[in-house]
Amino acid sequence: MDIPFLSLKKVNLRYQVEFQESFLEFVDIGHYILGPQVKAFEANFAEYCQSKYCIGVANGLDALELIIKSYKFPSNSEIIVPANTYYASILSIINVGLKPVLVEPKAYDLLLDTTNLETHITPKTVAILGVNLYGRMCDLSRLKSICTDRNLKLFVDAAQSHGALYNGTTNCIGADATAYSFYPTKNLGALSDAGAVITDDIDLANEIRKNRNYGSEIKYKFDGLGRNSRLSELQAGFLNIKLKYLNEEINIRRDIARKYLNEIKNPRIILPPNDNINEDAWHLFVIRCKNRKSLAQYLEKMQIGYEIHYPIPPHKQKAFSGFGDFELPITEEIHETILSLPLNPSLNQNEIDYIIKILNEFEYA
Ligand SMILES: Cc1ncc(COP(=O)(O)O)c(C=O)c1O
Repeated sequence: MDIPFLSLKKVNLRYQVEFQESFLEFVDIGHYILGPQVKAFEANFAEYCQSKYCIGVANGLDALELIIKSYKFPSNSEIIVPANTYYASILSIINVGLKPVLVEPKAYDLLLDTTNLETHITPKTVAILGVNLYGRMCDLSRLKSICTDRNLKLFVDAAQSHGALYNGTTNCIGADATAYSFYPTKNLGALSDAGAVITDDIDLANEIRKNRNYGSEIKYKFDGLGRNSRLSELQAGFLNIKLKYLNEEINIRRDIARKYLNEIKNPRIILPPNDNINEDAWHLFVIRCKNRKSLAQYLEKMQIGYEIHYPIPPHKQKAFSGFGDFELPITEEIHETILSLPLNPSLNQNEIDYIIKILNEFEYA
């Protein structure tokens, strides 16, 4: 059996006929930019996120940058962000001219550790950017309480957590704004780049709506220095189709995660926490192994695809050299030991059983 880490073609196969119909309708209507599909998706996704406003943008990085830029924070302001995240969370802060302050994750669930977070707050801190990494919501209530006490904004990078729940809701409760990516591999993935901002704040929504369109509300009248970051009309059509099936897909992900958690029994492998199976969106199933190299070689031999999310921690990236000397041993240890197993709605029972069997048979000296 040869199991790829993720076959997007297989994941999207069930939508092919609806995609074709949507494409024909798109050509037929002839409204290519910010047309009826974007409008419908913005309404549908706001409702899905149990929030008031959704603004479709070109990708997740832009969603983050548009949020942060809208607040016009003084230059050199600091934003607290988890050290264990995808590069883009941190890049968004730097691209807007602000300083990221990297905070270690918990070894338990690999998400931002809020225990000593307040020791990182300085007079220059303006916001916390929580990240729902791997499909698990970060500790929103603790983050909100810190932000309220310290008069900070709370932003959430939800690029990996479409469909995740927090106290039963898909809403990132307490966040001033939440950024989503619909990069093709995401739980809700387009067939190209795409993203969105979710917020309950009408002023912020209006500002971002303007700034995704060159800073213009009225054609050829430019009120601010915006950018071109409009959600593609064609992709919005595809996303409207996939959104209808998102909960079904998330439930399949949860069933696979539950089976992995119950049936992978190997002392050499540390499984992700099983305390939140029905709220996690299981974007990635990230295990840890002291001898990752040997596990990776074994999986290759057994023809099971895997990925490392991520092999180099952001603070060790060449692009960020010069942004400070960070001591982040937990983050570094995580990046040396993690490995993501295949987990997506296109896996069949035989494949899932095979992955479990192969992992249970893994040994090293
Ligand atoms: C946590 C996180 N933040 C931000 C992004 C950026 O999204 P995009 O690739 O759509 O710009 C990603 C996408 O990979 C991500 O995983």
